[in-house]
Amino acid sequence: MAKEQIIPSAEQRLNSGLRNLWYPVAASWAVAKAPVGLIRLGERVLLWRDAEGRVHAVDDRCPHRGARLSMGWNLGERVACWYHGVEVNGAGQMARVPALAKCGIEGRKFNHSYPVIEKAGAIFLWFGDRDVEPTPLVLPEEIDSEQWGQVLCTAHWNCNYRYAAENVMDPMHGAYLHAVSHSMAEGDKTATMQARATDHGFIFEKTNQTGVNFDWTEFGDTGTHWQRLSIPYRKSAGPGGSFSIVGMVVPVDETSCRVFFWRCRKVQGWQRDAWHFLYRARLERLHWDVLEQDRLILEGMKDDARDHEALYAHDAGLVRLRRLMQAEAKRQVEALTAKAEALA
Ligand code: FES
Ligand SMILES: [Fe+2]
Repeated sequence: MAKEQIIPSAEQRLNSGLRNLWYPVAASWAVAKAPVGLIRLGERVLLWRDAEGRVHAVDDRCPHRGARLSMGWNLGERVACWYHGVEVNGAGQMARVPALAKCGIEGRKFNHSYPVIEKAGAIFLWFGDRDVEPTPLVLPEEIDSEQWGQVLCTAHWNCNYRYAAENVMDPMHGAYLHAVSHSMAEGDKTATMQARATDHGFIFEKTNQTGVNFDWTEFGDTGTHWQRLSIPYRKSAGPGGSFSIVGMVVPVDETSCRVFFWRCRKVQGWQRDAWHFLYRARLERLHWDVLEQDRLILEGMKDDARDHEALYAHDAGLVRLRRLMQAEAKRQVEALTAKAEALA
């Protein structure tokens, strides 16, 4: 059964999360045998793996009386509710009512079932408006190619997801917020910035410096919204050239989000194994320190900070991202309105 959709304003749509996109909702390792209950884009979602390791995702709500299915049991193809044992399958159907023989509502679909793709060590769900089919999910090559090794790190931040995305569109903060860090202590503290279009989005970059600090950042929309940047590394950091970071963010609700950062290097074979080991042993903690600096700044900002800003030229990247997302929110709301009017 499709979800009832109440038509939001464009700002509400933007604030709670754009639809018709794939979002990473959890790292693969976070969903093992037990059912997992998450909140993403304000929706309660249940995830579980069947015996073949495939992930299923449906509303985390028992169709019987509304208990959270994630508190129940993983039966492989189905999950059983803890409250009265009702079983729901991956298609969102009430597959079995164990307490009543020949229950008349057995087999009916009450729960929304989310399309799922597992890639790059993460579980992606499609959050679509009614009747909008999932688009292909295309990921940046750094996280979708044998040539690259990556380590995924993910964290919960208590800020609206847009602040997390805008933070990555703002390379200049590297030279200040992260001035005391292992990778961003070098380079000019002033810059002129420019934006240029790409096939799937745009790049925002310093015109006076590249390859020294956090000097450019890219936004792309390929069925999911991603951001990409690279941080140069000293030669002593090992093979593979610059360190690339692919970032994504999923709204939890209107005031919190989960960020995903893949740290990537173009290394293969034994060098990749050595890099993974050394990354875990030597670098990961330093990267967490940098992420904590971002988290502290963003969590310290009020939800309505964007309504009281005095922006300057360095903010052109995040303004461009805002415009793009606002335009998409408007398109989505107009499409919902047109559909509702056609049905009326
Ligand atoms: S609420 Fe789930 S079985 Fe009754
Ligand atoms: Fe940062």
